[in-house]
Order: sequence, then structure tokens, then C-alpha cells
Amino acid sequence: MSLLCGCSRKWLQVRNITADSLLGIILAKTVTRTVDLRSDTVTKPTEAMRAAVATTEVDDDVLGADPTVFRLESEVAKIMGKEVGLFVPSGTMGNLISTDIRGSEVILGDNSHIHIYENGGISTIGGVHPRLVKNNSDGTMDINLIEAVIRDPGGELVYPTTRLICLENSHANNIYVCHCNNYII
Ligand SMILES: Cc1ncc(COP(=O)(O)O)c(C=O)c1O
Repeated sequence: MSLLCGCSRKWLQVRNITADSLLGIILAKTVTRTVDLRSDTVTKPTEAMRAAVATTEVDDDVLGADPTVFRLESEVAKIMGKEVGLFVPSGTMGNLISTDIRGSEVILGDNSHIHIYENGGISTIGGVHPRLVKNNSDGTMDINLIEAVIRDPGGELVYPTTRLICLENSHANNIYVCHCNNYII
């Protein structure tokens, strides 16, 4: 009924327009646009984004000459509260670099992107041994399960050493939950 508020009842009655048909008219005139948020890989850049890419100043960032990459790295480091940032062109590459603990063990979720999708790169390229913990439906892992698999440094000489725990935000195989600070202390 609130739909009718903007029009005079009489005006609608004369034209034999009901609330349902008015809703139909409004919906028919509404421009619908689908925004696909399944992944960053399926979103398309807008014209403005393409234009920005075409005109952005670029140079060799290894030689420290690329102002755009430098700005991106500095701003992200500031946002994340880190000393420095490093731009890499893919998530898989970032994960490989972040798990660079060759010869040691990493604890990670059994449904994590690193474990399921990245060609086992942490083992085959990185020489890192994965220790899996069950992921909950929101992508978290129970703290007691994590604690239970941390290797005792005073344990058997032949055990690998736990040196890293990987927690995934925007968890690929579960609902996209951003784990907040009371989970990651
Ligand atoms: C959680 C997570 N990590 C890593 C990746 C890999 O990113 P890329 O495809 O850029 O290598 C993805 C990609 O969807 C992801 O969702």
C-alpha cells in the first residue's frame, strides 16, 4: 500500500491501476544490472579503470623507478599496519612467497585455497610440508585443533618443525567471511 502513497488513489482508480500492476510498471522501468561478485577473476574493469591503466605512469619497479607500484605498496602497507608492502601479480604467487619456510611444516585448512587449488606449489616449489586442520563452514579452524597439531620443539628429532599457521580471509571454498580481530589475535 505504501507504493500508492506517491500517487493519488483516485488517479490510480480512474486508470484501473492496482498496487500489483503499479509495482509491475515500476519494475519494468527499472534498469537492472547484475554485479557478479563470485570472484575478482570474473569482475570486469570499467571504462574509467581501463583508461587509468592506459595512462598510468610505469617504470621498472625492481630499480625502484615505478611510482605507481611504489604508491600501491606504501598505501597497502599503511592500511595493513606493516613496514613495507610487496606487489605481486597473482594470489598464488603471494601465497608461495608468504609460505617460504623451506624444510619446515605449515598448518593450514583442509579446504584452503593453498591446499586445494595451487598445484601443491608450497611442497613442489617451496619444499614446505603441509599439516592439515579441518576448516569450519566459515573458513575458520578451531583453535584447539590448531594447537593440537603444533609440533613439540622438544619432541622427536625426526619430526618436522612447525613454523607457520595459514589463515585465509575471503576463504575460497566457504562463504566469504572476513575473519575479524577476535579470531586473529
Ligand atoms: C583465497 C584465495 N587465495 C588465492 C587465490 C589465487 O589467486 P590467483 O588466481 O590470482 O593466483 C584465490 C583466487 O581466487 C583465492 O580466492
